[in-house]
Amino acid sequence: MKNILIVGASSGIGLASASHLLATGHQVIGLSRNTPEINHPDFSFYPLNILEEAPNFPALEKLDGIVYCPGSIQLKPFQSIKPDLFIEDWQLNFLGAVKTLQHYFPLLRKSAEAAVVLFSTVAVQTGMKYHSSISASKGSVEALVRSLAAEWAPKIRINAIAPSLVQTPLAGQLLSSPEKIQQAQNRHPLQKIGNSEDIAHMVSFLLGQHAQWVTGQIIQMDGGISAIG
Ligand SMILES: NC(=O)c1ccc[n+]([C@@H]2O[C@H](COP(=O)([O-])OP(=O)(O)OC[C@H]3O[C@@H](n4cnc5c(N)ncnc54)[C@H](OP(=O)(O)O)[C@@H]3O)[C@@H](O)[C@H]2O)c1
Repeated sequence: MKNILIVGASSGIGLASASHLLATGHQVIGLSRNTPEINHPDFSFYPLNILEEAPNFPALEKLDGIVYCPGSIQLKPFQSIKPDLFIEDWQLNFLGAVKTLQHYFPLLRKSAEAAVVLFSTVAVQTGMKYHSSISASKGSVEALVRSLAAEWAPKIRINAIAPSLVQTPLAGQLLSSPEKIQQAQNRHPLQKIGNSEDIAHMVSFLLGQHAQWVTGQIIQMDGGISAIG
């Protein structure tokens, strides 16, 4: 049984990951602004806004893994993006993960099998119009993953998952009608959009013992878009 911290356990992929990890016998600590709808004896929740300069991180005794889920999808033509929006995206997608990892590094280092999972997007490796701000932020996440994988080996493993469109509240506007869902499915070689349960299984794999030889990787879960086009 491991103790896993999930920043962003109240919704989407973080909620699905928390449910999956609890169902497979782990202790989960959730941090987010809203309280997750999870009733489980091995789940504890602490309210936190990662955008605060000094977020109110709870004191924990033991930690074996961190999953950082907060993210944004603000798609706009490059010319219309003000510097503030680039900064906003970078603070949530990248700097929040940095604050979390720096805060809990001393605890992670004490674990015999520590692992971290961050989130990127398919749009870092595959150019997509209107994605300049989010892909720049997630590009920082991918760079961080490789740097820390080198810096923290062999003690702590760190990987990221780079999804394409996944049916979650974050993607709600892009999937708000049957027509939009159909069009999104058609864009993917596998003719499907993603679901949070599949991503949760990958999170669980990356945190677990069968990934003990995997670090510094960006796992593409994107219906084939990045590899096939
Ligand atoms: N869904 C997609 O299509 C898609 C595609 C590519 C990449 N991704 C990436 O996958 C990750 C998970 O996405 P998702 O779709 O599951 O998103 P989501 O449904 O919006 O969930 C995000 C989680 O992060 C928390 N969060 C957001 N802002 C926060 C803040 N300031 N402080 C603390 N917690 C905060 C939210 O909780 P509260 O609101 O309660 O704080 C929520 O629990 C993200 O990094 C996203 O960029 C998603």
